[in-house]
Amino acid sequence: MKLLMVCLGNICRSPLAEGIMKTKLPGHFFVDSAGTIFLHEGEHPDKRAIKTAANHGIDISKQVSRPVINADFDHFDKIYCMDIDVYEDVISKARNEEQRRKISLFLASAGNHENAEVPDPYWGDTKDFENVFQLLDKACDQIAIQLRSIAHNS
Ligand code: 4NP
Repeated sequence: MKLLMVCLGNICRSPLAEGIMKTKLPGHFFVDSAGTIFLHEGEHPDKRAIKTAANHGIDISKQVSRPVINADFDHFDKIYCMDIDVYEDVISKARNEEQRRKISLFLASAGNHENAEVPDPYWGDTKDFENVFQLLDKACDQIAIQLRSIAHNS
């Protein structure tokens, strides 16, 4: 099963989500991330995201930012969006109903309906990055449980 984590710049939230999710799933799951804007294409994640992940023993330093491309909608089974603006942007790029069905709001998929958006830490400080890490970590746990059970039953 192939999962794509998507945020705006692909340098803060989705690289963290990718790095965390990879630690929760067995190797036959493929996890990648992308952004809805081209601004940071080719860059490694934000230094604060790299540091926050490293504090938890996860290396995201080699990831490289890239925008979402049309082929992603065919290649990936699940496309998780970090906030509502990102979700609306990604949905608008999908070309048919099958592709639209793959797209969801990450925290809503994890069962967190009250606060369905991962806040953007880009304009914040290291505490905001740590808060995002904790939010993503809990949500990844929930989603990993769901995905393992889907993979087991199919
Ligand atoms: P991300 O955070 O979407 O979590 O990677 C951002 C990164 C860059 C910008 C905004 C948000 N930016 O405006 O450059």
